[in-house]
Amino acid sequence: MTPLFPAPGSSLTVCGSLSLHPAPVGAAMHLAGYRALGLSFTYVPFRVARVADLEGAVRGIRALNVRGAGISMPFKQAILPLLDELDPVAARIGAVNTVVNDEGTLTGHNTDAIGSARALEEVMTIRGARVLVIGAGGAARAIAFALADRGAALTLANRDEDKARSLADETSATAAGLDAISRGPWDAIVNATSVGMGDGRTSIVPEEAIAAGQVIMDIVYKPLETELVRAATRRGARAIHGGRMLLHQAAGQFELYTGQPAPLAAMDAALADHVIKPPGSHDGRDKPSS
Ligand code: ATR
Repeated sequence: MTPLFPAPGSSLTVCGSLSLHPAPVGAAMHLAGYRALGLSFTYVPFRVARVADLEGAVRGIRALNVRGAGISMPFKQAILPLLDELDPVAARIGAVNTVVNDEGTLTGHNTDAIGSARALEEVMTIRGARVLVIGAGGAARAIAFALADRGAALTLANRDEDKARSLADETSATAAGLDAISRGPWDAIVNATSVGMGDGRTSIVPEEAIAAGQVIMDIVYKPLETELVRAATRRGARAIHGGRMLLHQAAGQFELYTGQPAPLAAMDAALADHVIKPPGSHDGRDKPSS
C-alpha cells in the first residue's frame, strides 16, 4: 500500500487534483502507479468548496508544497492567470489540466493533448492520416491541437459549424458540419463530444459510416463500451475506448510529477476497476481487454 504517512526519516510527496466534484478514478490510477514503482508519493483529490475558491486552492498548492495537481472543469481556463508559467502546448490550447509545482513555481500543462495522441499512436501513425474529429468543445480543442501538431490531415465536424470553423482556423484544419461524418474517406474518426455518455446507447457516428480497417476512437469513458465502440467492432474497425485517452493523460501527469515513465499496466488495471466496477459494487462485468 502507498503510505499515507511517510516512514520515519523519509518524506512523502503529495499530488492531487482540484475539482468541484472529485471522482475516484484519477486517484486510483496515480496511486496504483506510485505503488507499482514503490514511490513515496500519495494523491489527494481535493474538493474545491466553491468556484470562487480556486485562487485560494492554488495558493494552498504552493504553500503546502503539493507537487502536482490535475485540474478539471470549470477551472481549466480560470486557472491560467493564477500560474507562474505555461507549457507552450497549454498556452496554445488556452487550457490547463495539470499543474506542476517546482519549488513554488507553478507551471500549467495540458496532458489531454498528449493523452489523445498517445491513444491513437498505439494503433496508427498520425502524420498524414485523414482524421475527422467530431466536436469543438474543450476536449476537441486539446485533441485538435495535438493531432495538428503531429501532422494529421485534420477535419473538424461540429453540430454548431461556426465553432468548428473557429477551432479549424487555429489548427489549420478543415471545418465541417456533422454530415461530413458520412462523407469520408477517414483513416480515423474521433468522437470528442459527450454523445454516448451515461447509458452508452447513442452514437454520433452512423454505423454505415464506419469502414473495416478504420480507427474509431471515443473519448467517452463512462461506459467504456459505448455504442460507437460496439458499432466499430461490429464493422471490423479498430476501436479505441475512452479509457485509453484517460489513461494516457494520467500517464503524462505521472511523468511530470515523478520524472519516471508511467507504469501503464498497473494504472490501466486501476482505471478498469473504477470505471467498470466502482468500489463497493459487484456487477460481474469483465475488465476491458486493453
Ligand atoms: P467538453 O469540454 O467536454 O468538450 P463542451 O465544451 O461542452 O464539453 O463541448 C461539448 C461538445 O459536444 C460540443 O462540440 C457540442 O456540440 P455544439 O458545440 O454544437 O454544442 C457537442 N455535443 C454535445 N451534445 C451533442 C449532441 N447531442 N449532438 C451533437 N453534438 C453534441
